[in-house]
Amino acid sequence: MTGLRITGWGSALPDNIVTNADLASRIDTSDDWITERTGIKERRIGGTTAEHAINAGRAALDKAGVTPDQIDLIILATTTPDRQVPATASTVQQGLGLSCGAFDLNAACSGFVYGLVGALGFLKSGLDRVLVVGSETLSTIVDWEDRNTCILFADGAGAAVVERTEDDGDLLGFSMSSDGNLEYALFAERGGTLEMDGRAVFKNAVLVMEKAAHEAMEMAGVTPDDIDHVIPHQANIRIIEASCKRLGIPSDKAITVLDYTGNTSSASVPLAMVDALEAGRIHKDEMVLMVGFGAGMTSAATVLRWSADT
Ligand code: UT7
Repeated sequence: MTGLRITGWGSALPDNIVTNADLASRIDTSDDWITERTGIKERRIGGTTAEHAINAGRAALDKAGVTPDQIDLIILATTTPDRQVPATASTVQQGLGLSCGAFDLNAACSGFVYGLVGALGFLKSGLDRVLVVGSETLSTIVDWEDRNTCILFADGAGAAVVERTEDDGDLLGFSMSSDGNLEYALFAERGGTLEMDGRAVFKNAVLVMEKAAHEAMEMAGVTPDDIDHVIPHQANIRIIEASCKRLGIPSDKAITVLDYTGNTSSASVPLAMVDALEAGRIHKDEMVLMVGFGAGMTSAATVLRWSADT
């Protein structure tokens, strides 16, 4: 069997911190409301999608101990490419000094998990190493007068180097889906800003996260009791807690960073992954469930048995 092993990871956040109090000084909202309804306390704003991806990608290459010529492909998950054409992945490739294939992937907040599954396919096709990055500058497509959305979204990136293994590797099961009937719930027209039916997204998010997680666990041959850590999309603490409850996984197994990152879409799962790894929370041989959902509405999950030394 050919598999995938995560051997390096890194993340990047802009320096500029925008607190709930900063937002409350400009629009009709409050720290209490945002904290209670979302779990977000502050978020990082600024920079470009390519800059964050390059910084996160460089850290991941360093951690994996690989040189630029050893990377065969970049998959950049983003909903906020810096330009319409070319793919932001090409800017990242140049910035990291790589010479390999590069493309953008838009599966909204499920993007990084889609990217990992895609990387497994490329490794099975013969590539040795893929750099999977989730990077966003959602601040560029947010209407800063719209309290329905601007309190949620933010900027940043997370990245992973994944390598081919000749055994089953880390990724034991996955699920990917999309339901275009729900496109209306979260979208941005070309050149426009994000529009969202928050309640519709909330309701469906809990359902699709549960479904995706069950499908990935079934493929991996594991049950919720086997899961040591959940790395969920960082949208809303109430969505994370409700999903854990429905899955029968204690919510203290969920890794959360949204209190200081906000919702960074494709970057949110890898940002949480890197935070947990750097905090020494994930250990070798532990079972990790990644699960995301987002505009589309997409959802995706992976079950990984973590094999890298942390
Ligand atoms: O990556 C996926 C991205 N999207 C999401 O994950 C969104 C999922 N949905 C959510 O997270 C929640 O629906 C929100 C956080 C967006 C909203 O929370 P909610 O508990 O669903 O609030 P609501 O929309 O039902 O609004 C409750 C009240 C309303 O006032 P009335 O009608 O009860 O008088 C809103 O006008 O809260 C009001 N409200 C606010 N108040 C203060 C809405 N936004 C704000 C705000 N500050 N920022």
